[in-house]
Amino acid sequence: MALLHFGWFLGAGFGVQGWGDPSYGIGYDWRQPPVYQDAARAFEANGFDLFIIEDGVTVPDTYGGSAEVNLAAARFVPKHDPLPLVPYLLGATSRLGIVPTLSASFYEPFTAARLLSTLQHFAHGRLGFNVVTSGSDLAAQNYGLDKQVEHDLRYDRADEWVDVVRKLWRSWEPDAILEDVENGVYADYRKVHTIDHDGRFFKVRGPLNTAPAPEDPVMVQAGASGRGRDFAGKNSEVVLALASTPERMREYRDSIREVAVANGRPADSLKVLFVVQPIITANAEETATVTLARSELTQAAIDEQLQSISYLTGIDFKTFDLDAPLPALTTNSNQGTLDNFVRSAPEGSTLREILATRAKKDGLAIIGTADEVADRLGELGEAVGGDGFLFTGQVHPANVHRTLDRLVPALRRRGLIRTELGNGGLRQNLLDF
Ligand SMILES: Cc1cc2nc3c(=O)[nH]c(=O)nc-3n(C[C@H](O)[C@H](O)[C@H](O)COP(=O)(O)O)c2cc1C
Repeated sequence: MALLHFGWFLGAGFGVQGWGDPSYGIGYDWRQPPVYQDAARAFEANGFDLFIIEDGVTVPDTYGGSAEVNLAAARFVPKHDPLPLVPYLLGATSRLGIVPTLSASFYEPFTAARLLSTLQHFAHGRLGFNVVTSGSDLAAQNYGLDKQVEHDLRYDRADEWVDVVRKLWRSWEPDAILEDVENGVYADYRKVHTIDHDGRFFKVRGPLNTAPAPEDPVMVQAGASGRGRDFAGKNSEVVLALASTPERMREYRDSIREVAVANGRPADSLKVLFVVQPIITANAEETATVTLARSELTQAAIDEQLQSISYLTGIDFKTFDLDAPLPALTTNSNQGTLDNFVRSAPEGSTLREILATRAKKDGLAIIGTADEVADRLGELGEAVGGDGFLFTGQVHPANVHRTLDRLVPALRRRGLIRTELGNGGLRQNLLDF
């Protein structure tokens, strides 16, 4: 079987890890770096390429107009800023790619270019950044806006944002720093240039005032809508993707690669990594028990699904009758996420049926023994045509070890995961195969 890339997507961000698990808080404090450092070391030792950390900037109160469910269940909040965590993760590892999330809507391109350039020096080429456009109005209201900018316009703006950030990274020629002690010249002024960018959304003079990084951080993105896919295919080197069937995975990967080619990039210059949640059991009996427990549509499970989709789409799903079909819905927030949600059950299904189907099918979860899950990942990888997977789940120690200690040996036996990471940086590791 062909080698695949593996990574971990920390969907809870630098937030509460393991709330509700019997081992919550035992031997770790989610507010401190060590639990993430331990996870990063485990990922590196197991041959993972990268560790991506989600982020968001709101206390969600869309569901039922209240933050009660989110705060009680520690869903999406509280959460720390992932950027200060990055140096701790870099310090704990030597080859793993570290990828914080950063909002193109709320970081000025100069601020982002400067921060990322600084971190890339620490990272020796191991830094990536997950660019998001932050669809939520709640987020926009923390940054002086009443509403978030219209969906496609956000991407137009993000396109220009990427362009400006990259121009700033080029504002120093690679050999601008001379450190010529004899002649007393630190840097050659002829090799440091203003960018004089004057575009539709940004006006930036430049140059950047950091020293040039050895190479650009790797750009990661998760566009799901048509416009989002265009953005990802044009700009990204890694695309994070959600899709529940091999057919949808293949369609998604093919479409992103087509956009890349249309933009003059080799299709293999970007890797589409699908997010999955492996749940490793000891035997068939445990698989049946876990599957049953996860598919039960309890009130807590309904609230869990609805708070999440309400936050991600900005639509209060508490206002809909559970036993009626949903009205036609559009959102200015995560349109792709809304489409996936609505499409999870046949047209005309009631909201309760959609929730029940999602609980049963659970698009992300792959439940089984280590050998069964490894086989499934191998089959999916082959059906999709590559490139690999991001495991998701919280990084409380019990979860990381429950997953990796059993699954990675099974992946190795099948030749699906690399045994060692190269030390040429994240981009090089991604391009190895
Ligand atoms: C796996 C995955 C991870 C994502 N991580 C974040 C994140 O950390 N922060 C965020 O604001 N949005 C995140 N998003 C949302 C995406 O950036 C994007 O808005 C979403 O996929 C919808 O696509 P669209 O904007 O093209 O409609 C994520 C999406 C996916 C699928």
